[in-house]
Amino acid sequence: MQKLVSKVTDNANFYMGNSPIDLIQKYGSPLYVYNEKILREKMRDMKNLVSYENFAVNYSAKANSNLAILEIANEEGLNIDAMSPGEMYAELKAGFSPEKIFYISNNVSKEEMQYAIDNNIILSVDSISQLEQFGQINPGGRVAARFNGGIGAGHHEKVITAGKNTKFGIDPDEMELFNETLKKYSLKLVGINQHIGSLFMEPDKYIEGVYAILSIAKQFNDLEFIDLGGGFGVPYNKLDDTYKTLDIKSLGKKLDEIFEKFSKEYGKRIKFKIEPGRYIAAECGVLLGMVNAIKNNGSNKYAGTDIGFNVLARPVMYDSHHDIEVYRQSNEKPKKIEPITVVGNICETGDIIAKNRMLPTLKEGDILGILDAGAYGHVMSSNYNNRLRPAEVLIRENGEAVLIRKRDTLEDIVKNFISLK
Ligand code: LLP
Repeated sequence: MQKLVSKVTDNANFYMGNSPIDLIQKYGSPLYVYNEKILREKMRDMKNLVSYENFAVNYSAKANSNLAILEIANEEGLNIDAMSPGEMYAELKAGFSPEKIFYISNNVSKEEMQYAIDNNIILSVDSISQLEQFGQINPGGRVAARFNGGIGAGHHEKVITAGKNTKFGIDPDEMELFNETLKKYSLKLVGINQHIGSLFMEPDKYIEGVYAILSIAKQFNDLEFIDLGGGFGVPYNKLDDTYKTLDIKSLGKKLDEIFEKFSKEYGKRIKFKIEPGRYIAAECGVLLGMVNAIKNNGSNKYAGTDIGFNVLARPVMYDSHHDIEVYRQSNEKPKKIEPITVVGNICETGDIIAKNRMLPTLKEGDILGILDAGAYGHVMSSNYNNRLRPAEVLIRENGEAVLIRKRDTLEDIVKNFISLK
């Protein structure tokens, strides 16, 4: 195998001696590949973010909820977020004890609330309307609430989750009604949380958000925890030598100062939590796929692959950039570097992974590695066009590649359909 572009995975020793081509031959294409060593490093980065002792990292499982990934998070001593009964169920199955799980609900039915209550999982409500319903089914219960501190940030408007243009959080202007509702049902508010949005590379907005939630926290005198949310960014442009990473050292230092000061004012070493998803899971994942066709259409050159937006939705959904590496099965040298539009096999014009990307002249049979695909990759995949969702493979710390999710089969595609015959 020749590696035509492989700087990022080589530097990280990502494949640890496994060949992407062998992996694809064994597990089918496309294929999600994760590196356990990188995953654990990222988890430890977050655990060691601050020196303040009453601190917990809730891995935001929505980024990658494969059972094996959850088991590793549990082994690393992380806590965990859930966004649905499905996530809570998988987390319990992965061995998390209920007190380590935090259910951040949003517009859910009473049955969903009841699922958390029955499993002794603390739930955060996202509106006074939902607090009222929680109170009805669980008077006297312990509850958390998500506030909207007014500061939002993120890589795309669709992922900014605080401020006036979002459905999330309770508006602090409604505090009076909020407190009345707590009182009406004798509820104990154990914590408050926020999430300003996804992917910041400069800490300023996050810190601004922290101040906003702390000023809300001060209005309650007996909280057990304050959860500051996730959003910690990763660089998606590592092939560009000038790329920058998030400066977690200076962010951690700033947070430590804030935590120390706040806990003095508050009169106790309150627990602080964060909820990183992408930071933990993105960089440990590469999505492998195959170039099946090359064609010209007018002045555009296309590489047709099996990486449709059913497999990786981010480029189509948010215009997200993912770096692309190229591995070749033959010894043929590429003619030049040229712009090419990399597309998938879904029957839609918008099915584009990368537009006019500068890549070595591609040919049929080349393997592409879509980098930083470990977060919001497989979890957002679908069976659109009745396509099979890919397998997931984990390269263990000793270099052994193990299957952690089977590829769908054709039978999976039809198994929930009910025939009229
Ligand atoms: N906590 C809450 C309440 C969230 O809503 C999210 C993500 C997180 C934590 C984790 O955020 P992270 O640390 O991963 O940025 N599908 C999009 C990302 C959506 C994230 C929305 N909320 C993407 O592929 O970019």
